[in-house]
Amino acid sequence: MDKINVLFKEDEISKRVKELAEELYSKYQDEEVVFVCTLKGAVFFACDLLKNYPGDGRLEFLRVSSYEGESSTGKISLKLPLNAEHINGKNVIVVEDIVDTGYTLDYVRKYILDMHPKSLIECTLLDKKARRVVDINPTYSGFVIDDLFVIGYGLDYDQKYRNLPYIGVVVKE
Ligand code: IMP
Repeated sequence: MDKINVLFKEDEISKRVKELAEELYSKYQDEEVVFVCTLKGAVFFACDLLKNYPGDGRLEFLRVSSYEGESSTGKISLKLPLNAEHINGKNVIVVEDIVDTGYTLDYVRKYILDMHPKSLIECTLLDKKARRVVDINPTYSGFVIDDLFVIGYGLDYDQKYRNLPYIGVVVKE
């Protein structure tokens, strides 16, 4: 196993996820909300967010891919589409693990807007603001981080490390 420097411990993550769920609930209250989890990276975050959301929260999945190793290719491909019936006329929250260049979120926003939701916002756990290429700012973000390649809590490096309960950085020897 590689050496990993922990960036956010399990309890820090869960505290912040609870805060985000409360902020989202205070926005929507009794309205129905569809959380769109972008697979695979956001799966732990989306589940924890939903578990802490006391309102009418629905869950849908979308899978897009852009990354190879440690770099975004900028070419997004849709691997698992959404059903437009679950989006049309609904309050939608895109749940992302991390926004890096912004290509993925930009693609996902446009894809969902084509399905005519009632409203659309974004909630990302991590925001690598310094690396942004596309001019896009997620509505909610858990933590703003430096230009580091992070793993754990759903985030992978070539499919590895998703199962770590914390978020960290692999120390290269
Ligand atoms: P973007 O299109 O460059 O904004 O990249 C967004 C996607 O790239 C995220 O949904 C992640 O799947 C992946 N990604 C970006 N940065 C990292 C990272 O530091 N660790 C793991 N995956 C990342």
